[in-house]
Amino acid sequence: MGSRLASSPVARLLGHRLFYTAAPDLTGQAVLYGSGVSRAWAPVFVTRFMSTSAAAQVQAGEPASEESARCSGEKKEDKDVFSYWGVGSQKVTKEDGTEWKWSCFRPWDTYSSDLSIDLAKHHVPVTWMDKLARWTVKSLRWPTDIFFQRRYGCRAMMLETVAAVPGMVGGLLLHLRSLRHFEHSGGWIRALLEEAENERMHLMTFMEVSQPRWYERALVMTVQGVFFNAYFLGYLFSPKFAHRVVGYLEEEAIHSYTEFLKEIDNGNIDNVPAPAIAIDYWRLLPDARLRDVVMVVRADEAHHRDVNHYASDIHVQGLKLKEQPAPVGYH
Ligand SMILES: [Fe+2]
Ligand SMILES: [Fe+2]
Repeated sequence: MGSRLASSPVARLLGHRLFYTAAPDLTGQAVLYGSGVSRAWAPVFVTRFMSTSAAAQVQAGEPASEESARCSGEKKEDKDVFSYWGVGSQKVTKEDGTEWKWSCFRPWDTYSSDLSIDLAKHHVPVTWMDKLARWTVKSLRWPTDIFFQRRYGCRAMMLETVAAVPGMVGGLLLHLRSLRHFEHSGGWIRALLEEAENERMHLMTFMEVSQPRWYERALVMTVQGVFFNAYFLGYLFSPKFAHRVVGYLEEEAIHSYTEFLKEIDNGNIDNVPAPAIAIDYWRLLPDARLRDVVMVVRADEAHHRDVNHYASDIHVQGLKLKEQPAPVGYH
């Protein structure tokens, strides 16, 4: 009975999801090819090429980490699927003719973070709704502090699994509303989905510096199940409240990343080389370190803070989001 259960597809899937741990790789050397990325994508592209640590490993005859290989398409190249439908793999090349190897993001998705953003901005809670939103976030912070304490790498990775949910839920609900009401969204669907994708890239980055343990993977599944449904209902009931909660969540994220930086500066966390995926996504210098990554991620969180408080303010003023153009591409 036990062996039958262990060999069942469900058990194999759960075993893989819960117990698989890929070895982190931080040894890859970045290769700088230049800069000057434009959002208006041209076939010829000048940017920093994939500085993948996975590539370095493959060359050295070592197995690449699962995410790096999946992202870079290292394994897929060998067995490209023939398509009757004419779809095929999109080949993206740079100016020097070499291939862009990340498949999970493309050169036009990369950007240089605006580090000059004011990190200290804070929405002072005035209404009872603001106070409830802030209390909700503060009460969520308490168990998080106890669970992770000063393990900021792991904490960041786990929190990004939650942070990537609201944008997707908000974008989905606005999308459905647009269909139901035969109306434009003012760009807010795209802006919120951009936020979700940006948060997911934070997760892809921190996965490279910290690997979750089996019980942390189990926790993520549980929290995602609860948080997705709670936020979905919350957004249906009051998008004004939902965006305010996310605004305060982002304020807390800024604080957490500031603490993360302090730990790096104190020497309590090794300032290891930046993961290759981060170097390419944020157009960092090839010798960038973990500290540089945390700086750009913190700046992203500050941008999310602004967007979500702004969205809530629009509702507070009795307007709909579609009546105010969305800050698409706000980094
Ligand atoms: Fe994030
Ligand atoms: Fe964020």
